[in-house]
Amino acid sequence: MVERTLTVRVARIRRETPEILSFELAHPWGRELPGFEAGAHIDQYSLARAPGVQGSDGSYLIGVKREVASRGGSASMHERVREGDLLPISAPRNTFPVQAGARRHLLLAGGIGMTPLLAMAQHLARQGADFELCVFARSREHLAFADALAAPELAPHVRLHLDDGAQKIDLQALLREHADGTHLYMCGPAGFMNAVRKAAAHWPEDAVHAEYFAAPNDSSVPAGKAFSLRLTQRGFSVPVAADQTALDALHDFGIDIPVSCEQGLCGTCVVAAEGEGAQHRDFCLTSAERQHKVALCCSRAREQELVIHL
Ligand code: FES
Repeated sequence: MVERTLTVRVARIRRETPEILSFELAHPWGRELPGFEAGAHIDQYSLARAPGVQGSDGSYLIGVKREVASRGGSASMHERVREGDLLPISAPRNTFPVQAGARRHLLLAGGIGMTPLLAMAQHLARQGADFELCVFARSREHLAFADALAAPELAPHVRLHLDDGAQKIDLQALLREHADGTHLYMCGPAGFMNAVRKAAAHWPEDAVHAEYFAAPNDSSVPAGKAFSLRLTQRGFSVPVAADQTALDALHDFGIDIPVSCEQGLCGTCVVAAEGEGAQHRDFCLTSAERQHKVALCCSRAREQELVIHL
């Protein structure tokens, strides 16, 4: 069951690059949409504009890249959706927040991965925070949201790397030193994420934050073991077979949990869990959150039992 809690009207569609369209989503009757924080997403699309940015009118802005191997979503957004259409979407969720206690923020964006980082950069600019937004794109033609990047409050903080141009950023040099209090945020395609992770391998784990679009290629998970899911609020246990996810097992018992990406990326299926019984296989929870939460679409029990608050 995919969680759909809002209906929005497509107020404007704009071509950003040959592969990326942006969609401005507004309340169907002009009311206010639910608030959100920079870094948040709806469904699997990050909100590309911070709340309160001039001209936003409280609407949501998303960027959608047409993926060749689309699981349906991006191709249909490009081909079928028109201005004026009504769309069901999930409420905004944030699994990629700005770290309030950081002294400096380094935001690294690859291609369409710019969307959450652009909103974070706008938020940081409004706060007067120390930050840099490094954007990696194939060429100027492939640079989405160029107007927003050129806005006077953002432009001094933006560095561009264009594959086909003279402007380059040396990742190794950029990430060589980790200054105390600096937090790194990354979002982009798998190859970009791997390169950044490698270059930042010596950074403290809790200073590195990532938002994935798809589960990394090297995330092949070992075969699952059967286990039991104890539901504390209902007072019974649900068996999970070796070839089944916890989510499927609950569904078979008539218990519907909201789900969206089914890859451990979006956080929609996350519930409260007890102790350290989970073998986490998600890409959205921080190590602190993993102490008391679990993503049911992909994670399993370490041993025979996983206790969740349902
Ligand atoms: S449904 Fe997205 S993390 Fe589980």
